[in-house]
Amino acid sequence: MKKSSPYLCNHCGELFPKWFGRCSSCQTYNSCKEFHEANISSSSKKTTTGINLTKIKSTKQNNQINQITKRIKTNISEIDHTLGGGFFPASLILFGGHPGIGKSTLALQIFLQISNSLYFSGEENYTQIQDRAIRLQPNTTTTDFTKRIFATYQLEDICQTILEIRPPFAIIDSIQMVGLTDQTLGAPTSIRENAEILLKTTKQSNTTIFVIGHVTKNDELAGPKALEHIVDCVLYLEGERNSELRILRSPKNRFGSTLEIGVFTMHKDGLQPVVSPSQIFLAERSFDVCGSVITVIREGVRNFLLEIQVLLISTNFGQPRRTAHGIDLAKFHLLLAVISKFTPFKCENFDAYLNVVGGLKIHDTAMDLAICATIISSRSEKALPSDTVILGEVGLTGEVRRVLYLESRLNEIIRLGFHKAIVPKIPKNIKRPANLELIEIQSIGDLVELYFNKY
Ligand code: TYD
Ligand code: MG
Repeated sequence: MKKSSPYLCNHCGELFPKWFGRCSSCQTYNSCKEFHEANISSSSKKTTTGINLTKIKSTKQNNQINQITKRIKTNISEIDHTLGGGFFPASLILFGGHPGIGKSTLALQIFLQISNSLYFSGEENYTQIQDRAIRLQPNTTTTDFTKRIFATYQLEDICQTILEIRPPFAIIDSIQMVGLTDQTLGAPTSIRENAEILLKTTKQSNTTIFVIGHVTKNDELAGPKALEHIVDCVLYLEGERNSELRILRSPKNRFGSTLEIGVFTMHKDGLQPVVSPSQIFLAERSFDVCGSVITVIREGVRNFLLEIQVLLISTNFGQPRRTAHGIDLAKFHLLLAVISKFTPFKCENFDAYLNVVGGLKIHDTAMDLAICATIISSRSEKALPSDTVILGEVGLTGEVRRVLYLESRLNEIIRLGFHKAIVPKIPKNIKRPANLELIEIQSIGDLVELYFNKY
């Protein structure tokens, strides 16, 4: 009996046996699409380009994979660090980011570092890629790229080449711009199907496949969200268009930590790793101004100093407006409420705007106290001393709580030449550094007492 075609939610990638108006998984309306998984399995055993896709779909995984564990290093320090020591062999990696952020550039830099790697592009032609590669690494010649760079959007060709050559590493730019002959490029159903084909190609050829994917305005990967579940590792390149700073994150990594980040700056010769990110984050900081505070955050095993800015102005009419760049907006609302409740600085009738300088998106609760201090500073129009770093978690009753890895954070503060820090109460077992003045506070009220009590 013929199996009925399942239906797929365009948004979350969930499969359903029947058509639906609203997805029961992600609650999105009109996201139902028919999904033909059988498209390439039986009818088109051999495609126009000769690749046998049935073989990719059915062949058992090569047992060799289990024996290979040596990571593929890129020798680009920030990438290896983010991945936990390099790319895992025979894995499928999705590399997302907004258009123009530098995905193709970074992918080409990786390609130049890994010998015998291949680069397939459905977005640019051969000469464009070659010119860019020579610009990124001027000592290379065009002959270095013979049979290594391919400008094609035919997925059959790409898989066949990978299966024949069996390179250690292959880049595909991008999942939206490559497809099978009979597919519509970029359609969510095609993307999901192609990701499955690539996963099987990866496992069969022992090649690590690095696929670029575009991100929509809502910071989601264009195409079904299910793509992120299929791959072994997801990397995102973030940053502001008008800033040269770029952050590499790994929200999913089956073979390493998801907490590490890589920091780069964009130059005319590509993305360069940043050795001391704190210096970059503080490079253009403002001194002795209201609504600016330095804090220290931790990402993975590293600590960074960065500036938080807040602007509070009276609301002219209606509901106050609140925006937050770099932290969760709900967190910003919560801290504004805590300040209104436990200090004389009421914020209910103020529009509030927050910005984490440098374009980082932070989830570290150790910056709560610094955010509170910045809000009160803007509200009271009193600048905080610019040689002071503030850190601590703030609870719903206005209490200031301990932060993890305090010693290590204090060392970064000293390294960057700061002399004073406002911190939560320090446990007895923690060694106090000699060359840093520490002011311990226990509540948000203590902070007001310390700096804003005259207002
Ligand atoms: P690109 O890698 O093409 O972005 P994506 O693939 O994410 O769409 O990079 C586009 C931007 O990067 C473009 O505005 C130019 C800039 N760029 C540099 O500043 N320096 C360089 O060396 C390169 C190659 C690009
Ligand atoms: Mg590109």
